[in-house]
Amino acid sequence: MNKTNKFPQNPGPIGIFDSGYGGLTILRQIRSLMPQYDYLYLGDNARAPYGTRSFDIVYEFTLQAVRYLFEQGCHLVILGCNTASAKALRSIQQNDLPQMDSQRRVLGVIRPTVEVVGDISHSRHVGIMATMGTIRSATYDLEIAKLHPDIKVTGEACPMWVPLVENDEYDGPGADYFVKKNIDSLLTRDPQIDSVILGCTHYPLLLNKIRKYMPSGVHVIEQGFYVANSLQDYLKRHQEMAERITCGGSTRFLTTEQAETFQCKATAFMGESLTAKRVYLE
Ligand code: DGL
Repeated sequence: MNKTNKFPQNPGPIGIFDSGYGGLTILRQIRSLMPQYDYLYLGDNARAPYGTRSFDIVYEFTLQAVRYLFEQGCHLVILGCNTASAKALRSIQQNDLPQMDSQRRVLGVIRPTVEVVGDISHSRHVGIMATMGTIRSATYDLEIAKLHPDIKVTGEACPMWVPLVENDEYDGPGADYFVKKNIDSLLTRDPQIDSVILGCTHYPLLLNKIRKYMPSGVHVIEQGFYVANSLQDYLKRHQEMAERITCGGSTRFLTTEQAETFQCKATAFMGESLTAKRVYLE
């Protein structure tokens, strides 16, 4: 069978994928900028977090998710996850898409964030706070070196931050301890840092704590806003893709965990009541 024939060809929603709840912070910003489109969110909550997993596993899980979203009719999928963007995006774009369907697109969250950092940092010393996987991949370092070679990048892996969010502890005292610890560690390693990228889509949920411990002169860069702007710009430049997105203003939610658990937490994140459906990736 010709592989290109297995995905629906008629227009469909924009797919947004994350290992868990973090991508909701990206969905929220994209949807508020472009409420006219339909969206399909997929959280692989049953297998989150991805941050400590190997390249091969993150790639395999992400590819399964992208294929699933294509099967559901998406022509454009946003990896609302830095770890997946760092570890799987390039292989999917270069090796898998040409075989699966060369007309479909998968975009990540790292490039749009890196594009704006040059305009934000004055000291040219930038910090990245992200999962162990994203920091070890050095994707931010490489991408920033390409676009802004004068910027010095210091990465700080924050392995406890995603579990704090996934386990509803982002407002608790445990979050104070770990947020302060990682911010202090980062700024001790490079005291000249004037801008810090929150390089994990879960981290905006910890923003109250982050603001509490980040010195006021340090700019905290939340990527959702920039990812949304970049996507809007992309769709203006790629009318052929914009025409393959349905405009019903709806959002549907899929999770690999129990639907009730996802609904409960995602409702709190999104500030609206929603229903989710459980799906199985393979
Ligand atoms: N939201 C994902 C990211 O942006 C979290 C990764 C994880 O599951 O550890 O990296």
